[in-house]
Amino acid sequence: MRYSGLIEKYRDRLPVTASTPVISLGEGNTPLIELRNLPAILGTDVQMFVKFEGLNPTGSFKDRGMTMAVTKAVEAGSKAIICASTGNTSAAAAAYAARAGIGCFVLIPEGKIALGKLAQAMMHGSTVIQIQGNFDDGMRLVQELSSDMPVALVNSVNPYRLQGQKTISFEIIEALGDAPDYHVLPVGNAGNISGHWMGYSESVCQQTEACGLCHGACPYHPAKPIATKRPIMIGNQAAGAAPFLRGEMVKNPETIATAIRIGHPMSWNLAWAAVRESGGWFNECTDQEILAAQALLARHEGVFCEPSSATGFAGLIKDIQAGRIKAGSRIVITLTGHGLKDPDTAIAQSSKPHLVAAERGAIGDLISKHL
Ligand code: F0G
Repeated sequence: MRYSGLIEKYRDRLPVTASTPVISLGEGNTPLIELRNLPAILGTDVQMFVKFEGLNPTGSFKDRGMTMAVTKAVEAGSKAIICASTGNTSAAAAAYAARAGIGCFVLIPEGKIALGKLAQAMMHGSTVIQIQGNFDDGMRLVQELSSDMPVALVNSVNPYRLQGQKTISFEIIEALGDAPDYHVLPVGNAGNISGHWMGYSESVCQQTEACGLCHGACPYHPAKPIATKRPIMIGNQAAGAAPFLRGEMVKNPETIATAIRIGHPMSWNLAWAAVRESGGWFNECTDQEILAAQALLARHEGVFCEPSSATGFAGLIKDIQAGRIKAGSRIVITLTGHGLKDPDTAIAQSSKPHLVAAERGAIGDLISKHL
């Protein structure tokens, strides 16, 4: 059957009815890629998989939550949506609003959004409002504006966002046959870690011990991805924007990973619950560690994610080196957005292209030197 998006696939576990007008771009169903080269390079025997969310329709995991939020906004009769964003949410909101034929207003921090994301919000026809402030200022403003204007708020404080985002855990359990031992991801506004935890929690079979038929002829959940456990959740932040590490909000967050340049996360309690209930922890990574992790994935595995997305892997490298990860474990790392979102940062850290005459000899010499 043709795949037609996560609402159709998981409709029995999402708050929709047969008459809900589904707004979809075929999001979800992203690849779970096993890392083949990096475990050896890092000197570890753990099994690592990346869930490449950059392969969603607008290039980030935000599409999972946005298909639900926009679907429910349209169902409720909304004619316009609004969000604050560090870039990816605005790209997703703009695209799904275009698909639904409704208006879209996005508030973004002036000068602190990656080029690809800005291009998306502009191209899909949203009203792009650059504010002289950061994401946290924008978040406060959109909450105020949506409370007394006819615009539906589609940031992850909208509960339908997390409903859509939880489906990533369903897909992982389906692919692996169970939950992994650890799940590693970047944390900004903290909606995604909360969505992951919701998905894993809803997948744990209450009957596992009683019937012992999991993954076989289970009479209770024959068709659903069912897990026997939940993973240990590890949330990773950029050092300049790490309120979970500080234990309090950060006033002026700063990092090259602009998508997670957030000091005042909205899903504070939910994210703490995910980490505490799972026996996990938070890490912080410097900008250098984040860029190094991004380059390792690109050069050794062929997977190009944006800097913020590499923050999870950067934290995992530190955990492996510190001996915090059990030998032989199975780990899933969410890579939240595509590297093409932020070409400036990629080009700035790569070596320049060679400039040579358009002659066989010159090019042949160059090839010989690099063979
Ligand atoms: N990675 C990327 C690529 C993101 O765009 C974001 C958040 C995160 C990680 C963090 O996820 O906020 O759920 O903890 N971007 C939001 C935006 C804030 O506006 O695009 P989170």
